[in-house]
Amino acid sequence: MAEPATVCRTLERYGQEHLLHFYEQLAPSQQAALLEQIAGIDFSLLEESIETYVRHKLEVAPKGHIGPPRVISTKPANKAQASEHKKAIRRGRKLVAAGKVAAFMVAGGQGTRLGHEGPKGCLEATPVTHKPLFQVYAEQIQAAARRGNATIPFYVMTSPDNDVATRAFFRQHNYFGLAEADVFFLVQGTMPTIDFNGKLLLAAKDSIDRSPNGHGGCLKALRDSGALADMARRGVEMISYFQVDNPLVHSIDPLFLGLHDLRDAEMSVKVLSKRDPMEKLGNVCQVDGRLTVIEYSDLPEELARRTTEDGRLRFSAGSIAIHVLSRSFVERLTEGPLQLPFHRAEKNAPYLDEKGQLVCPTEPNAIKLEMFVFDALPLAERTLVLETIRSEEFSPIKNAEGSDSLVTSLHDQVRRAAEWLEQADLTVPRDADGQVAAAIEISPLFADSAEALQEKIDPELKITAGQNLYLGSRGQTGGLR
Ligand code: UD1
Repeated sequence: MAEPATVCRTLERYGQEHLLHFYEQLAPSQQAALLEQIAGIDFSLLEESIETYVRHKLEVAPKGHIGPPRVISTKPANKAQASEHKKAIRRGRKLVAAGKVAAFMVAGGQGTRLGHEGPKGCLEATPVTHKPLFQVYAEQIQAAARRGNATIPFYVMTSPDNDVATRAFFRQHNYFGLAEADVFFLVQGTMPTIDFNGKLLLAAKDSIDRSPNGHGGCLKALRDSGALADMARRGVEMISYFQVDNPLVHSIDPLFLGLHDLRDAEMSVKVLSKRDPMEKLGNVCQVDGRLTVIEYSDLPEELARRTTEDGRLRFSAGSIAIHVLSRSFVERLTEGPLQLPFHRAEKNAPYLDEKGQLVCPTEPNAIKLEMFVFDALPLAERTLVLETIRSEEFSPIKNAEGSDSLVTSLHDQVRRAAEWLEQADLTVPRDADGQVAAAIEISPLFADSAEALQEKIDPELKITAGQNLYLGSRGQTGGLR
């Protein structure tokens, strides 16, 4: 363990000596814990970040020539594309069947906007059986694995704040039908919270306040946790990456996986056409020839509103944060020290003042530094952008109310289920406004796509207005799990 005097000198050099302000008041075990936390911080690296992102608020406006990306649509525009899509779907299914695909969910966020206590994945989020988000994804993975008669390992990234609760939730629910050995939890790294003067904050007398280091922290976490090595041992070559907040996601999408492989891409991204110029989606652009996501908060409004001659948005490709990453790419990136750029977010961070009193600010007083996984895209030699349809794949739960909330997502889940049933020639009751007039939920174990539903559904099924219809793994169960 480092000597307090040495630690003190280091802290003085970087103007952080206040971290030991209460040291003498602490019990020996607390002193040791604090010294260990301090020893875990690379102060010279941190100082650079403070200088760049806190004292100088690094200019985030993108530099270089910015243009729209080349996009492939899930709806083929011609025969050649249709034939490539067919080939890609076959390839994607083959990859799954050969055990070369892993599912990877990032679930380390703090869910501040939603205001939900505990891990977001525990949120009950389906319209009839109120399944937690984690179950939705586990069932999707199970369905895809069964179809391929293969194993799809599921890697779940947590953060120190929600790791224990997440693992306990999975255990308590028997891993939602997945084999325990095929669910791998990894904990992302954290960054100290920094006040506007560049000082680290104390959360308690013996602990430094920290926040998760952003989902970009997943790359290093995949290596440090042994997840990458586990993937290599299993023969996994492709990582299907998604966020915890979108129950409409196709977490294992043969078309996306197959195209990624056929085009020999290192990292791919799914996009959709933005609802409006200021929609809070990362903007997928080409910057000096490199595929880049410019976060919604970083794209100047003038660029966001720019239109083409035919009146469409010039930058319409919004990232829905669904990626395929080749394992070899993640290995290459994390071989040496990988530093994705940081993005700063201001937050209200409770802290101890010099009198040892906890202050809970009502205004932002500090900065958290986060890395974003999409900043790996410009580092990839080959990339692919697949444009999908919003109603089919995206309705995230981010806010407590209004857009992108539980209410809108439930509505969109019912709407998609109704569309799948109608595509299978069933009649779905709708009210005068065309809204679906029943609550319908389709378990991924019954069908995870419109095509899968068509193969299975009883053509005689009658759906009545006001009904609670659940199509579960054993068919219609009228609302039971
Ligand atoms: C995110 C993307 C945005 C994209 C949108 C699509 C960022 C910065 N932006 O926005 O480009 O268009 O989703 O829905 O991500 N997470 C971690 N660890 C962290 C922080 C977040 O695992 O340290 C996870 C969360 O649990 C969540 C996901 O990352 O699954 C997204 O995080 P969030 O901060 O909610 O991003 P958004 O602003 O919604």
